[in-house]
Parts: sequence; structure tokens; C-alpha cells
Amino acid sequence: MTNTLCTQSIQLILRHQATSGAYIASPAFTHYKYAWLRDGAFTAYAMNRAGQHESASRFYKWCDRVMNRHEQKARAAINAVKAGDRGGETGSDRFLHTRYTVDGEEVIGDWGSFQLDGYGTWLWGLARHVHYSGESDLIRQLTPSIELTLDYLTACWQLPNFDCWEEAGDRVHPVTLAAIFAGVKEMEAFLPERATELAQLAESIRQFVFANGTENGQFVKSIGNTAVDASLLWLTLPFGLVEVNDPRMIQTVQAIERELLAGHGVHRYASDTYYGGGQWLLLSAWLGWYYARTGRGQEAYDIAEWIVSQRKDAGLPEQVQEHLLSPPDYSSWVERSGEPAVPLLWSHAMYLVLAAELGLA
Ligand code: BGC
Repeated sequence: MTNTLCTQSIQLILRHQATSGAYIASPAFTHYKYAWLRDGAFTAYAMNRAGQHESASRFYKWCDRVMNRHEQKARAAINAVKAGDRGGETGSDRFLHTRYTVDGEEVIGDWGSFQLDGYGTWLWGLARHVHYSGESDLIRQLTPSIELTLDYLTACWQLPNFDCWEEAGDRVHPVTLAAIFAGVKEMEAFLPERATELAQLAESIRQFVFANGTENGQFVKSIGNTAVDASLLWLTLPFGLVEVNDPRMIQTVQAIERELLAGHGVHRYASDTYYGGGQWLLLSAWLGWYYARTGRGQEAYDIAEWIVSQRKDAGLPEQVQEHLLSPPDYSSWVERSGEPAVPLLWSHAMYLVLAAELGLA
């Protein structure tokens, strides 16, 4: 039997995939009418899990065009960093951006655009695409932009940059490092002449996270900030920097459950004030994914049902307001920027991933 929200999610994602291959983060929310590498790579992953390989393939060809278009900027940043010039504050425009127009142009504006995680995530997602679709020829076609991305990550991975929530640009974040780790590690098998170098780099990143990114036996939001963040789930799923049952991961998940879970909804982090700090559907799906992989199928299923119950006419929102961490900030954000984003393609994507894990699709 076909799951209705799965079918709708696939249709919605296809509808908002530009002819260029880019996925628009949220078509109805002014600030999100662009294409992010992070949202896009997870959306492509979900489409692969749902058997929509052609859509995912078009996304990776878009990533390739973005890299080629901004090659000079990337090379200049690589050379500067190698020469010991770290570019001053991370707000400078010297590094590659994180979001683009559907045609691959940078979006001008005040935004914490230096974010490295998306560059690791697109490489990781590309490898997963080849795994699910069998389209191995894509690696050959995209080799120059893969190499450029790897050179960029090799030069920059230790620099402070904005996290996956586009915040804290003065810090280094274990989740960002895990995305880079996964991208580098996955490319090892495809680029034999660089395999040793990539294996060593991936291992250095992993050891750096183990040495600097834990406190009291659990992973931390950022180096120097010991709070828990629900995105730490990505360290294991899908990025594989640690096993699902690593004691540090188990303790991190317990902290997420204790501090960030209310009912079936998951908050990003305890001090979140964005739209009052609601519960993010995509993170709830992520916790369900973790449960599905650790023998907690019923809890995963309950989360999937709860996500279905949060569907609005326009689709799944970014966040819901059943439980707000900072209620006064909800109305101030609505006054400033309108209602929270709906539909958010990434929410639909993560529902598709959870549904695939549970065999609901
Ligand atoms: C989130 C990012 C996301 C972007 C587009 C931001 O508010 O923090 O993680 O990539 O929205 O969905």
C-alpha cells in the first residue's frame, strides 16, 4: 500500500525542483526561496531512498555546475588559507557560499554564508546516489568539481565557520566536521590515486572530533560550547563518524531525549529562539531514524505518525509550535518575517527517509 504522505512528498519535491536541478528550500518563505547544498543533498538522498534517482541525478549535476561556476573563488580561498591567511573574520566574503539561486549565483545579503557542512554533504550524497542508482559514470563526469570540493575542504576544515543552523560562525562544530569526514571518506573509493591522502584526512578529522568535540562522555554542539544539539544525531546517521551504539553517541542521544524532546517533537537546542524555538519535523524524523536502527521500531513509528499529523494544507512545515522554548520570540519573528516556512522540502525529505527505514513507503 502506498503511503499518502510519501506520495505527496515526492510530488511536492519534484514540483519545487527547478529545471536546473536545484531544490528550492521553501517556495513560500521569502528567505528560503533559494537552493542550499545542505537541504538539497539530504533531499536528493531522500529521493534516492524513494527510487527517484533521476531527480537526485539532476541535483548533483547542479552541484557540479555551482562548483565550476565558483572555481576561481574556491581556488583563491584555498591558496590564501594555504598561505596562512585565514581571511580575518568568517563573515568575510572570501569563502564559498552555502545557498545559491537556482541558477547557481551567490545570494547577496547579510547571511552567515561561510558554512562548510554542505560541501561535505554533497559529496557524501553523491556517493549514496551512485550506491542507490548505480549511476557510477556520474563520478567520472563530475570529477573536476569533486576534486575542487575536496581541495577546498582539505584547506578549510579546521577554520571556524557557521554551523548547520547558520549560527556561531566563530566556532568549529562536530557536526560540520562529520559532514566533511563523510564526504572525504566516501570519495576514497572513487579516486584511487587520492585514496591514501583521503583516508588520512578522514581519520584526522575523526580523531580531532574525538579529542576536542566531547565533554563528559558526550558530543558537544561546538568546540567550547558543551550544550547538546539535536543535529549531533547526524554524527552517526548518516555520516558514520561513530557507530550508532558508541557509548558517546548513546549518551548524546539520551541528552537529546532529556533536554530537547517534548512529546514526539525535537527542538534544535535548548537556547533556540528562532520562531520561539519550535520543534523541527526533520529532527524528529532523524530521531526516528536513530530509533529504527537501534531496535526501537515502535517509537520510530510513533514519530512517523506524529509527523503525518503535523501536515498542513501546503505541506510539512519547518517547525511546529506544540511546545515552544521561548514563546515571546514566536510573535516577534512572525511580525518580522511572516509565518514559519511551509512547505519545507527538507521536512518532506526526512519523512521520506524515515518512511523508507520503516518500510512505510
Ligand atoms: C536552517 C538551515 C537551513 C535553511 C534552509 C535555516 O533556518 O537553520 O539549516 O539550511 O534554513 O532551510
